[in-house]
Amino acid sequence: MQVKILDIALGGRLWGKLFQYGDLCRFVAEPALVAQPPAQVLSLSMLAQDQAAQSALWADVRNPLFNAQGGRLPAWFQNLLPEGVLRSHIAQLRGCAEDDHFELLAACGGDLPGAVSARPVEVERATLQRLVTQDQDALEMSVVADPLPQGISVSGVQPKLGLARQGARYTARTRTRSGTQAGQRVIAKLPVVGRPHMPQLEMFSLQLAAAAGVTVCAAELAPLDAIDAQHSYALPDEPAFLAVTRFDRAGARRIHFEDFAQILSRDPQHKYGGSYTAMALAMRAFDSLGEAAQVELLRRLVVNELLGNPDAHLKNFGVLYPNGRTPQLAPAYDIVAYAAMQGVDGHALPLLSPEARRGPAPARTRFFTPTAVRAFCWATGLHEPLARRAIADTARRAREHWPALLDAAPLPTVWKERLQARWTAHALWRPRGRDRAAAAGE
Ligand SMILES: Nc1ncnc2c1ncn2[C@@H]1O[C@H](COP(=O)(O)OP(=O)(O)OP(=O)(O)O)[C@@H](O)[C@H]1O
Ligand SMILES: [Mg+2]
Repeated sequence: MQVKILDIALGGRLWGKLFQYGDLCRFVAEPALVAQPPAQVLSLSMLAQDQAAQSALWADVRNPLFNAQGGRLPAWFQNLLPEGVLRSHIAQLRGCAEDDHFELLAACGGDLPGAVSARPVEVERATLQRLVTQDQDALEMSVVADPLPQGISVSGVQPKLGLARQGARYTARTRTRSGTQAGQRVIAKLPVVGRPHMPQLEMFSLQLAAAAGVTVCAAELAPLDAIDAQHSYALPDEPAFLAVTRFDRAGARRIHFEDFAQILSRDPQHKYGGSYTAMALAMRAFDSLGEAAQVELLRRLVVNELLGNPDAHLKNFGVLYPNGRTPQLAPAYDIVAYAAMQGVDGHALPLLSPEARRGPAPARTRFFTPTAVRAFCWATGLHEPLARRAIADTARRAREHWPALLDAAPLPTVWKERLQARWTAHALWRPRGRDRAAAAGE
């Protein structure tokens, strides 16, 4: 039976081996990691209470965290793969099927999200036997090709390119002779045929979120003809794309990142599953996230509610590890005011988990009912007055700053009218009763 193996490293340190053997894909931590768990964090989903429990976790090769069957990767690794059209593009370059997940990870292994890498490795018989603990006689190593030089993985379904900003130009990433990365890395979110003005709408939405007090990633609109890179996307006759500055790259340095699908161990197929309560509970478990991150989550949800953004799923929130160990909530990204267009509404996830809800799922007419906010606070340990104040403050800032930004936005008038109409009709736009009391600090 053929075995394919990838060395998985975090920040340059060998962390373990991911192997595929028949139907099974398994991650096995390095013996050195089991002997002495390092301080760096690969994932909050893989953190144990203390050193002894951590060692035991890394040694537990049958743990569901580290295993998958049926051609998928363990959920944490599956979440590293490109999605949508970028996946098709990488599969084509690699000459593999789009559902050959192991091969896709190998193709992008040199440029994965955060600070992980995956590289092909050939191991000795003894190591092979240690890794593959079932049916050992006919094991055979199968050689995996090196990562593609153009193999960049960024998740998300919209068409995008990984580029480097050099002055006013955006180029396919290049390496200088010293091997360091030239230019600032960006995710280029491209315009799409049949969906006009999307880069402008996303840029505008990020500006609105920032004005409402949300911490957003750096982004700018740039002319499409500033892209110096080969690609096979059919581009519409539009002037601009959205250049999003990567927060997980600082020159040649990689800053580790993971999204909430990874933190909550959900396969990306289920990124519209779970709840915001589950996210907030995970935040509560870590001091460096805690209440501040929970409040920031509420700010983002207020913005999504007012913008009619139904796409804030688990992969659209994440954490960064600037020092390799301590998670910080990553700036907000992928916020789009879909209410400018017709026919979209609601939220990607429910506010409450079934356990927090007590009773049937409420109709999705109002997101922040007083009962729902109270249940959210109960379930997540967030101080209720703090939550109410965050919601009221965010709405107040929106009322103060958004009308002028809307006036100045380079968007069709009918879109502006729709947004305006949504805001003025919205309960958050007209503080009264409890909202007003909360705003007054009661
Ligand atoms: N500023 C950033 N720095 C680093 N990584 C980022 C940044 N912004 C987004 N990402 C990563 O890239 C992924 C794709 O970006 P984004 O969500 O904007 O794309 P999308 O295709 O619109 O996604 P979706 O499928 O949710 O519509 C995100 O899920 C996140 O992992
Ligand atoms: Mg996204």
